Amino acid sequence: MPVGTVTVMRWVKSFMCGWILLSAPCHSESGVAASAGKTFSATCASCHGDRAQGNRALQSPALTALGPAYLQRQLQDFISGRRGSHPQDIYGAQMRAAVGPLGSGSGVNALAAYIDSLPAVAPKATVEGDLKRGKDFYTMICGACHGAKAEGNIPLQSPALAGTDDWYLLRQMQNFRAGIRGGDADDVLGQQMRSMAMTLPDEATVRDVIAYIQSLVVPQ
Ligand code: HEC
Ligand code: HEC
Repeated sequence: MPVGTVTVMRWVKSFMCGWILLSAPCHSESGVAASAGKTFSATCASCHGDRAQGNRALQSPALTALGPAYLQRQLQDFISGRRGSHPQDIYGAQMRAAVGPLGSGSGVNALAAYIDSLPAVAPKATVEGDLKRGKDFYTMICGACHGAKAEGNIPLQSPALAGTDDWYLLRQMQNFRAGIRGGDADDVLGQQMRSMAMTLPDEATVRDVIAYIQSLVVPQ
């Protein structure tokens, strides 16, 4: 966009914000980030930790590895009920209750950008499995979308898996396989992932794959 246009848009934005709202988020990009940071501390940190590092006691995963596009989509999916509505999805329901009041406006995008700006964390290994077997299955099935190092693939809308808690990833795989996640008719990407989760032969193999993914986490 030409510089002149940007300047005019900034002027219009600051004029509109000053006139209509007088609210901090309007004034500048850093104002938006500061406001998202406040929302995070007030609404999310009690479960996910003040640095989004996760809290196993509350079953709330680390969020720093996921990337803004995926974060945004999940928040919107929880708000709309595409994710977290299944009657057996206890933890999804807790998360839905927490984000529901935010609504799906641009605040969600700023929140996702704020979380993405936090330093990466390296969750500890808790799931045991056969790494060699896990690697074979991961390479054969999962790597095509989630990347060879489980670093994620933005064009394929597949999140990074390394850097998110292994106990949480295990639960997601169990939920996908049981239709607790990815069973909603409007959740196209969840359905896609559900069909991939179904290709693993049994629970032991799921654990092998998750243990292998965790082994790819680089200590911080
Ligand atoms: C009451 C505790 C609680 C609060 C408050 C909460 N969450 Fe969560 N959140 C959870 C739980 C539990 C899960 C895991 C859901 C599951 O297992 O499917 C989760 C999952 C998520 C996910 C999905 C992660 C992934 O890898 O797909 C995102 C993103 C998220 N939360 C962001 C937020 C943000 C942003 C806020 C604040 C607006 C927030 N959460 C507030 C408990 C909470
Ligand atoms: C065809 C592409 C594709 C393949 C292959 C694939 N996935 Fe996924 N996966 C996705 C997409 C897309 C999502 C995001 C779904 C959503 O937006 O809810 C996802 C999400 C996930 C999640 C949830 C992450 C989170 O933070 O909540 C896990 C866990 C996962 N995949 C593990 C795997 C494993 C393990 C394999 C191999 C058995 C695999 N995936 C194969 C596309 C794929």
